[in-house]
Amino acid sequence: MSDFAELHYEGNVYKLPVVTGSEEERALDISKLRGQSGLITIDPGYKNTGSTQSAITFLDGEKGILRYRGYPIEQLAEKSTFLEVAYLIIFGELPTQEEYKQWSSDITYHTLIHEDFKRILEGFPSNAHPMGVLSSLVTSLTAFYPESLDPTRSADEVRMNIIRLLAKMPTLAAWAYKNEIGQPIVYPKNSLDYCGNFLRMMFGTPAEDLDIDPTVAAALDKLLILHAEHEQNCSTSTVRIVGSSHASLYASVSAGINALWGPLHGGANQAVIDMLEAIKADGGSVDKYLAKAKDKEDPFRLMGFGHRVYKNFDPRARIIKKAADDVLGKLGVNDPVLDIAKKLEMAALEDEYFVERKLYPNVDFYSGIIYRALGIPTNMFTVMFAMGRLPGWVAQWREMRSNNEPIGRPRQVYTGENERNYVSIDQR
Ligand code: CMC
Repeated sequence: MSDFAELHYEGNVYKLPVVTGSEEERALDISKLRGQSGLITIDPGYKNTGSTQSAITFLDGEKGILRYRGYPIEQLAEKSTFLEVAYLIIFGELPTQEEYKQWSSDITYHTLIHEDFKRILEGFPSNAHPMGVLSSLVTSLTAFYPESLDPTRSADEVRMNIIRLLAKMPTLAAWAYKNEIGQPIVYPKNSLDYCGNFLRMMFGTPAEDLDIDPTVAAALDKLLILHAEHEQNCSTSTVRIVGSSHASLYASVSAGINALWGPLHGGANQAVIDMLEAIKADGGSVDKYLAKAKDKEDPFRLMGFGHRVYKNFDPRARIIKKAADDVLGKLGVNDPVLDIAKKLEMAALEDEYFVERKLYPNVDFYSGIIYRALGIPTNMFTVMFAMGRLPGWVAQWREMRSNNEPIGRPRQVYTGENERNYVSIDQR
């Protein structure tokens, strides 16, 4: 097989090296094209652009394959824990027993947050959306750990920043929620595991401890695993590009949280429930909403449907759909919205519009239904996604910095005015 492709343009031939990945994925290296030919490439939304070579996640959207560091998502979701998966994603290998013990003890030890954070939190209006609060609090970590700003830090120091971020994220997320509902914050309790601790800080009060339901904690852990990493999506690319300017881990992840917030990305989980509720309030018939989604004059889209890379099925959605049935069954929750979701899915999968465009339920279609059954309020759904995605953002930031990647700076094709002379205001 040839290791380059030829581009013929205006009588010249340019050789473009072919880069091959470990799963035989092929890409044209166009990094020298402009220097040789004056041409750049254009690809709005980076639909066909590889921004990096990465050893973290393999994804085949046609076959519905997702693997973290080579391990299939199905195996990890069934057998592993979120903290173990986080270690795998960030450091590349499953931890030994000794490494895992140290890792979980380090993360448990650093859950507490500086008391001054409470004053920052009090500055937000009580109805502030927790995603905005969370991203602000994560950036604020730079003020408490100013040494994290130094781009020349050693691997050990970077590891400490990573541990702090993973450890404090559930505390920050739960506090963002407490601020929203006007309740006093609950401090972390280090005898609990990652999800148990978060649930207690979310739903407990300082006066009354909370018994953690193992079904709820296990379901949350599985959801976090399923969201933990997804290669170069919008928020992860944001983290990498912000980090490429040598901005700190905390600043880069905060930017990722904001990118995740939008309804076309992580915000879709909240939008799905809003949509299903609207269908329910409208009598429960899905046909009207399918018609709206197909109408090009109508901005409405079927939230939780479609994906940039999955064109047959989203493997995470399959696992979550099954988990939704299990969790609701175990908790004895009967949510009419689940029935509407299933009706909607069935109707869409048989509809020519959705079949033709290869639009299938994505990870967000059923996750909101589980979050709801766990008692998590709708505007915290995307915060849950952010908690899950954190290891992915961290690993991608770390990989980008270890590879010493250049600052991200795409080019453009200019379509504005040609040069013209300034006309003073009295002559206009
Ligand atoms: N409902 C109706 N039509 C859709 C939908 C949808 N949810 N998604 C895509 N289409 C149509 C779109 O109108 C276009 O049609 P046409 O070819 O006639 O112009 C075609 O399908 C291709 O869509 P696209 O917008 O070019 O695809 P994309 O790869 O740019 O967008 C997407 C991917 C996820 C943004 C989009 O499918 C969407 O908006 N889905 C709803 C929001 C959602 O669920 N987002 C969560 C994604 S998964 C979680 C995550 O990782 O972020």
